[in-house]
Amino acid sequence: MYDFSRSVNSMHAEDIKTLMKQSSGTGLISFAGGMPNNDLFPIRQMDQIFRELPDDLKKLCFQYGPTTGYPPLVASLQKFLKNKDLPVDRNKILVTTGSLQAISIITQEFVNEGDVILTENPCFVGAISIFETYGAKIISIPIDKNGIDIKALKETLSHLKVKPKLFYVTPNFHNPAGIIYTEERRRALMEVLSGSDIILLEDDAYGDLYFDDRDASLVRPMKTYKNYDVEVIYTGSFSKIIGPGLRLGYMLTSPEIFDKAESIKQALDACTSNFMQILANQFLSEGYLEPYLSFLRSEYKERKEILNNNLIKHMPSQISWNEPKGGFYIWLKLPQHISSTEIFEKCLQKGVVFVTGRTFDPHNVKDDRLRLSFSNMAKEDIEKGVITMAEIIAQQLTRSKAKV
Ligand SMILES: Cc1ncc(COP(=O)(O)O)c(C=O)c1O
Repeated sequence: MYDFSRSVNSMHAEDIKTLMKQSSGTGLISFAGGMPNNDLFPIRQMDQIFRELPDDLKKLCFQYGPTTGYPPLVASLQKFLKNKDLPVDRNKILVTTGSLQAISIITQEFVNEGDVILTENPCFVGAISIFETYGAKIISIPIDKNGIDIKALKETLSHLKVKPKLFYVTPNFHNPAGIIYTEERRRALMEVLSGSDIILLEDDAYGDLYFDDRDASLVRPMKTYKNYDVEVIYTGSFSKIIGPGLRLGYMLTSPEIFDKAESIKQALDACTSNFMQILANQFLSEGYLEPYLSFLRSEYKERKEILNNNLIKHMPSQISWNEPKGGFYIWLKLPQHISSTEIFEKCLQKGVVFVTGRTFDPHNVKDDRLRLSFSNMAKEDIEKGVITMAEIIAQQLTRSKAKV
């Protein structure tokens, strides 16, 4: 027996390992993977970008770079984020190795073992796992179709004896719930946090992936809001808008938080891959991103529609869900007495996988939901997969009725 450190005892780390395996398992119809489909990646554009790089930049690809990020990429990101009205002049950008690293750095910067972090329930499992690794005590607040439950938040805050260090939220096309916070809910959240000294960690991994251009204004980050006394750290990622293999993310934060974050990153990995940063910078600065995003938006919209229509066609009437306006996920609601883990085990035997609700509960209990991702699978498989799931859920409903 090894004398492992306490930080390896993350309950959700095992869930993530299983999830990654099932997302890419061959011969399975997988609604599990929260990643793009391989066929959508911009391989031709990247090929051309690399071929056309001057030799000195090609050489730089293989070199270490500044810990804070490849300066031309930082400049391109400033422009990109300014377009979202984010306060890039008063804040600094730190390029990170995926936005998971940004979340990890912020946690390391602020959280000691036993400190409280507030999260949504459900919550992105990757973030839960990081918070567990640092020994945080997670207190979760429910969300509904419009965002965080403000009443529950106020009640929790009124009972807490210690000040939470962070509040981690994903307001745009939530993973796993697929929802987007209304502006009213965003403002109510900022109002509650104003003057509380709780740092808001705003994760915007999916904000660019709205299905309808008329919804572009709905994704406005809370970090753009003025007149609230709240420190907001904003994180973003290239994973869903170019590809997760780049392992590129970033944070936008005040200079003081940035300085400490830089020291933490220096110790973690010195710098993010120059190779990937140079490619991503060319992709942004040469104007490839916008047309590519338009392509992605219509692809994901089509996939969402195929899945949604098949759910309407095949699922028993007791099953409900919200149709998302963007992102990768549909979050199915089962009747209370049916567990998604049971459904999962039966579906797995028939070659269909998804992610159980329990996975996204920071307390690993609530299991009356399941996450279907429409981003990663072949369009032709969607109906077949839904029929299998619907049959198994219907059998389970009949069985549970017979027991009553
Ligand atoms: C909400 C959310 N944040 C962050 C990430 C991680 O992104 P990255 O690949 O940039 O580390 C994901 C990936 O699934 C996500 O769903």
